[in-house]
Amino acid sequence: MTAQVIDGKAFAAKVRGRVAEEVAALKEGHGITPGLAVVLVGEDPASQVYVRSKGKQTIEAGMNSFEHKLDADTTQDALLALIGQLNADPAVHGILVQLPLPAHLDSELVINSIDPAKDVDGFHISNVGLLGTGQKSMVPCTPLGCLMLLRDHHGSLSGLNAVVVGRSNIVGKPMAQLLLGDSCTVTIAHSRTKDLTEVVKRADIVVAAVGRPEMVTGDWIKPGATVIDVGINRIDAGEGKTRLVGDCHYDSCAEVAGAITPVPGGVGPMTIACLLANTVTACCRANG
Ligand code: GUN
Repeated sequence: MTAQVIDGKAFAAKVRGRVAEEVAALKEGHGITPGLAVVLVGEDPASQVYVRSKGKQTIEAGMNSFEHKLDADTTQDALLALIGQLNADPAVHGILVQLPLPAHLDSELVINSIDPAKDVDGFHISNVGLLGTGQKSMVPCTPLGCLMLLRDHHGSLSGLNAVVVGRSNIVGKPMAQLLLGDSCTVTIAHSRTKDLTEVVKRADIVVAAVGRPEMVTGDWIKPGATVIDVGINRIDAGEGKTRLVGDCHYDSCAEVAGAITPVPGGVGPMTIACLLANTVTACCRANG
């Protein structure tokens, strides 16, 4: 079998197009421009790339982008004061604090100081609880993007066996909640899971979010299964070059799977598209 390639890049472009239409309607109909504030502390190169990309796509969708770049030695009090200002600013509908934060800052405290209604990452403890109990919440962008791709491919997910490999708060846990919400039978597997290969082999849907390059190989995959690869890992490609790979070994998985997301061009572009969609949602909720 050669898997169907799930084109996240094209799907994300459609989502961004829909967001841009909604933004235009909010401007014309209500005189409101959705605004997204992104806070970056320090100079982590990967974070700088993500933040630049978020700002660019926010503006392309017709929204206001507010970037706050703080020094790596910013104090917790200064960061909390900025978040307090953004919480109170009616032009700001979404707030994102780029993670990871420098080690001297308490990430949990910082995230939980964001107004939950503006928490477009869905990381605030209130949103985590709302998602876990199936209530209306802000949904974390990467798992939301994965769910959209899965719904688009399968239609209904009801009754399917889903295995999420990885138990992070950003992807693994919310992904499992979303799949459960769509009536999958969900297993969360991780580095301590016994017989991991056999567990993954039972899955109709595999979501790999472990951050280990090419860990999931074709012999782990049930023939015809759908493989969603959340990993973005830069590895040495020899001759001084690097290349991006996922958490799945693409070629061997694609031989067995029914459908697979590539890296790059699969889940990655969906994350920012969902961030823009969450910002419009937050803006609409804030304005009744
Ligand atoms: N760092 C890596 N992924 C994310 C994300 O989805 N949101 C934030 N705020 N930081 C991240």
